[in-house]
Amino acid sequence: MKYFESVKEYLEFRKTVTDKKIGLVPTMGNLHEGHISLAQRSMEDNDFTVVTIFVNPKQFGPNEDFARYPRTMQKDGDDLKALEMRVHKKDSTKEIILLAPQSINEIYPEGFSTSVKVNGLTDKLCGLNRPTHFEGVTTVVYRLFKIAQADRAYFGQKDYQQFKVIDRMVIDLEIPVEMHMCPIVRDQDGLALSSRNQYLTPPEREKALVLPRTLKALSFLIERNPWSQALEKVTKVRAEALRDSKWQYLQFLDADTLEEINDNTRTILIAGAYQARGARLIDNILVERNA
Ligand code: PAF
Repeated sequence: MKYFESVKEYLEFRKTVTDKKIGLVPTMGNLHEGHISLAQRSMEDNDFTVVTIFVNPKQFGPNEDFARYPRTMQKDGDDLKALEMRVHKKDSTKEIILLAPQSINEIYPEGFSTSVKVNGLTDKLCGLNRPTHFEGVTTVVYRLFKIAQADRAYFGQKDYQQFKVIDRMVIDLEIPVEMHMCPIVRDQDGLALSSRNQYLTPPEREKALVLPRTLKALSFLIERNPWSQALEKVTKVRAEALRDSKWQYLQFLDADTLEEINDNTRTILIAGAYQARGARLIDNILVERNA
């Protein structure tokens, strides 16, 4: 595994590997099995996998957890090395490049004044509660795309709206990178893995399971009923669930457009955000519309 703390050094290295396929896995560190699954998928598809670790201040709101966001560089490096060793048992040519800029200036040098904003897709779901979040995400991901110069990029489905927003940016700005979305990884109890889960006490976590359980119940109803009948049932379950004021949203949308479901909708996105005491959690399920 190669390790770079400086963007400049990475760029020097990047010039020497023009004949390799490169996959990019952007992260904010504190890696869990969800991140590792992205890196593993990238290693299957590419020669080099660039994992970036950068806690991006621009995507945190003023009262959010930027300062206390868990930073666990040593363990993250060990986990990536362990992944690389596992992959090397099958193919020793695959390599991980860890790019972990040590200062905010590396990504946003003195005087940095540009931001990238995707309109429309960012006005809904998480955008309602986190109005500046996606602009921070697209700005940093644009920077990481330019720096990494990867052929492919890998993101988790857990942040489905984030994927759609970045994908829109890639299309609109003609960024030459192939976007890949990888499945949500869940703990045994069904909670989607997230670095923020560790903010939850065991009882809070138990209560927060209402998020994956409700999404699952709704997806069953949609899978098992023609949409015209499912609609009535899911509307009832949703209304019942929303009596718990901790839900920030619980929505069914067209998964392609993030617009209301219409006659052309093929895949339905069921997405929820739940404000548990210790952490704001998000989750989603994609389900094919039944007739
Ligand atoms: O999904 C994340 O962890 C972050 O939003 C990302 C894509 C690494 C940008 O900082």
